[in-house]
Amino acid sequence: MPQPYHPRSWMPAGRKPLVGELRVPGDKSVSHRALILGALAEGTTAIRGLSDGADVASTRRCLEQLGVRVEDGGELVKTAAGEAWSEVRVHGAGAGGLAASRRALDCGNSGTTLRLLLGVLAGQPFRSRLTGDASLRRRPMGRVAEPLRAMGAKVELSDGDHAPLSVRGGALRGIAYRSPVASAQLKSAVLLAGLSASGETSVEEPSPSRDHTERMLRHFGVKVGVEGSRVWVHGGARLKASKVRVPGDVSSAAFWLVAACVVPGSTLRVGGVGINPTRAGAVEVLRRMGARLQVRPAQAGAGEEPAADITARHGPLVATETTPQEFPTLVDEAPILAVAATQARGTTRIRGAGELRVKESDRLEGTVRMLAAFGAEAKVEGDDLVVFGPQALRGGVVDPRADHRIAMAAAVAALIADGPAKVLDPGCAQISYPAFFPTLDALLKA
Ligand code: S3P
Repeated sequence: MPQPYHPRSWMPAGRKPLVGELRVPGDKSVSHRALILGALAEGTTAIRGLSDGADVASTRRCLEQLGVRVEDGGELVKTAAGEAWSEVRVHGAGAGGLAASRRALDCGNSGTTLRLLLGVLAGQPFRSRLTGDASLRRRPMGRVAEPLRAMGAKVELSDGDHAPLSVRGGALRGIAYRSPVASAQLKSAVLLAGLSASGETSVEEPSPSRDHTERMLRHFGVKVGVEGSRVWVHGGARLKASKVRVPGDVSSAAFWLVAACVVPGSTLRVGGVGINPTRAGAVEVLRRMGARLQVRPAQAGAGEEPAADITARHGPLVATETTPQEFPTLVDEAPILAVAATQARGTTRIRGAGELRVKESDRLEGTVRMLAAFGAEAKVEGDDLVVFGPQALRGGVVDPRADHRIAMAAAVAALIADGPAKVLDPGCAQISYPAFFPTLDALLKA
C-alpha cells in the first residue's frame, strides 16, 4: 500500500539534473478493465502490476459492493527480469453473478469507473445507483445514458446529464451506435452492455479511441470485430478468467519523459511502459518535437498490451502541431505536453482538444492558468490549445484545483522555473500516481 501523502504544498527540494531508473504505476485504463472483466469472467483472474491509484481502488470497491471477491496476493511475485509484483486475484462472478448493492456505488473521482460500470450494470436485472465526488458529479453522463437507453436500459440522471444516477438493467438489444465523440469510456460502456444484449452491438467513432477494452476482451476469450473506427461484439459471450500483466502507465511516464527533456543534464529511464499506439501518442509527439528518446521493446504485458523501456535525455525541442485525429491518443498528456511546448522553439498547437473541458477539471482552461502562474503565455483558440515557445518560466504558485494531472505537470514546470515555485495540494496526485511527489523528491535529493 502506498504511504498517504497529503502536505498542503510542495516545492522542489533543489535544482539539479534528474538521473535515474524508474517504474511507474500500472496503467490506470488497463487496470480498471482487468478488474471489471475479471469480475464478469468465470474463474479467478490474477492481475500483476495493478495501479495503486485511488481511481482503480474506486473500481475495486464498487465491484466488491456488487458481491465480487477481490483478494490481495500478499507475497511479492518475482519475475525472471528481477521485478517484484504483488498480485491481485479477482474471483469472477460470471455473466449473471453480480449482486445488487443497496448502497450507491461511490466512484470517487473516476469517470472510467462510473461509465464502464454503467455499461456493465445496464445488462444486470436490478437497479443500481452510482455517484462520485464533486468533480465527477459535474461531468457529462448523458452521452453514455443515451445509447444504453436505446438498448433498453432505464437510466435516470440528475439534471438530465449528471451523477448521482440510477440504472435499471435487463434484457438489452444490440444497437449500431454512431458516437459523436472519440471516447474510450463511452465506447467501452456500450461494448460492455453489448456483452449481455441480443445480437450484435457496434460502436463507430469519429476517430479511434484507446482500444484497451477490445484487447482485454479478446484476452478473456471474447470475439471482437474491428474495421477502421468501428468495433463490435456479440451478446452472450462467456468470459474466461485469465492472467493479466498490466504495463506501466504511459500517462504517468510522460511526466518523467518531459522532465528529463527540459531539465538540463537529465537522463531518466522508465521501465515497462505501455506503448499501445492508440494510447501512447505523447511519445510520438515528443519525438516529433525532437526529444532525445530511446524506446526499447520490453516484455509485452499478458493482456495483449505492448510495452517498452523508454529513456529520455535533455535536449532542444521544436514546436509541433497535433491533429484532431491523434488527439484521443494523447488526451491525458495535454497538460504535460504543454509544459514541454513552453521550452520548444516555435508555436505548438494541440488541435481538437475540446474534450479537455470535461475531464477531472476543465483542463483547457486549467493548463493555460497553470502556465500563466509561471509567467508563460498560452491560449485556447476554439478547441485548440496554443502554447508559445521558448519561454523562460518564473516562480509562481499553482492551485491544481484537485486535478492530479495539472498538479504533476505543474511540478515539472516548477523544476525549470527561475524563482520559488509551489504546487498546492500535491496529494491529489494519488488519483493516478501516489508515489509521484515522493519519487520526485528522492530524485532531487539523490
Ligand atoms: C479513459 C479514456 C479517456 C481518458 C481517461 C481514461 C479510459 O477518457 O481521458 O483518463 O480508461 O477509457 P474519454 O474516453 O472520455 O476520452
